[in-house]
Amino acid sequence: MVNLDSPISIVRPHAIEFGVGTAERLGRWADERGYRRVLVISDAFNARRVDALALKGELTVFGEVRPEPDTDDLDRVLAVANAADAELVVGFGGGSAMDLAKLAAVLAGSPQTLQEVVGPNKVRGPRRVALAQVPTTSGTGSEAGIRALVTDPGTRAKLAVESLHMLADIAVIDPALTFTVPAGTTAATGVDAMAHCVEAFTNRKAHPMIDLYAIEGIRLVGRYLARAVADGFDAEARAGLSLASLYGGFCLGPVNTAGGHALAYPLGTRWHVAHGAANALIFPHVLAFNTPSVPEKTVIIMDALGHGRARDIRSVFDTAHAFCAGLGIEMTLSGLGVERSDLDAMTEDAFAIRRLLDNNPRDLTRADIRAIYEAAF
Ligand SMILES: NC(=O)c1ccc[n+]([C@@H]2O[C@H](COP(=O)([O-])OP(=O)(O)OC[C@H]3O[C@@H](n4cnc5c(N)ncnc54)[C@H](O)[C@@H]3O)[C@@H](O)[C@H]2O)c1
Ligand SMILES: [Fe+2]
Repeated sequence: MVNLDSPISIVRPHAIEFGVGTAERLGRWADERGYRRVLVISDAFNARRVDALALKGELTVFGEVRPEPDTDDLDRVLAVANAADAELVVGFGGGSAMDLAKLAAVLAGSPQTLQEVVGPNKVRGPRRVALAQVPTTSGTGSEAGIRALVTDPGTRAKLAVESLHMLADIAVIDPALTFTVPAGTTAATGVDAMAHCVEAFTNRKAHPMIDLYAIEGIRLVGRYLARAVADGFDAEARAGLSLASLYGGFCLGPVNTAGGHALAYPLGTRWHVAHGAANALIFPHVLAFNTPSVPEKTVIIMDALGHGRARDIRSVFDTAHAFCAGLGIEMTLSGLGVERSDLDAMTEDAFAIRRLLDNNPRDLTRADIRAIYEAAF
């Protein structure tokens, strides 16, 4: 484990605007810097309300981002980005839109291809365009980070690009933009935000400087997620979740996730289960599995969630499972349409994600992973 005196690097977007009604500040910020040609990367829902950002000048809107984008989606974005020749790229949507905006900001007009930049620190800078991120879900925290994920349709693996050059100049986090997120997506993305915090907190690379955000992020989800699921227009609850998501993003940068996300990825890449839903289903299993390796931290997590009495594998599992199921989240693989015959292949895929599994506080063998999928089936 890492100690207080262990080295760590922390980066943040240059500016962060937070709070209900802040969306229109992006327009003023862009105007003050003289950005005239602006490219907004968005999904169909958010593209329809791009006016909320009050952007001036020559606006190109790519409004076709699909959930869990793949390399074909990125190619379409890059074609539009190359033609737009923008001075400012804006990611306006959930993690899917923000991740594609990051890649567009560094790959449009660049001789580098996606394959050349996969992995850490492969992007050649400096970036030629400004980058702004405006999240409309509260889950990924992608607005604060330096990673972007796209699926390779050939191998069904998530390709992770990590680069300081993808850090936003400004993140505008307006919780009012999340009022319209449906209850099911709110629940799943909220557990995703919490999973970022939990997996960073219990990580082999966990660091006290990040633990602060992790614990507070878990507390915010414990306090506000059920409220936001019950009433999407509860501004305080939505703000709490937007903050939890941002804190989760702070956790991802220097520490990152671990076993939970590794086991969740095959659900997305092989079965097109949304990122949040996949993580929510896996969450109780890996939290419980890890309990013997990080008992004190698990107590702190259960306390922060408002369930202080759970201590052992069984009660941690039952409590976390009840928390997720109580939010209306589908908690079985079969319920999501996954076929039992795929569990072996999913196990192989998950076991290969060493960049995350090696962070897990307790070793997850192939047999452990297979047993978790079986239990979740
Ligand atoms: N970069 C990172 O650090 C990081 C971290 C976690 C996840 N991710 C990636 O993020 C993606 C998932 O992002 P996500 O969970 O935010 O979902 P998403 O961006 O895929 O959006 C999910 C759905 O919600 C809709 N939507 C978005 N905002 C809405 C709103 N305000 N009202 C109504 N509908 C709305 C979208 O149109 C879409 O259909 C995955 O590809 C995942 O790999 C990235
Ligand atoms: Fe996630």
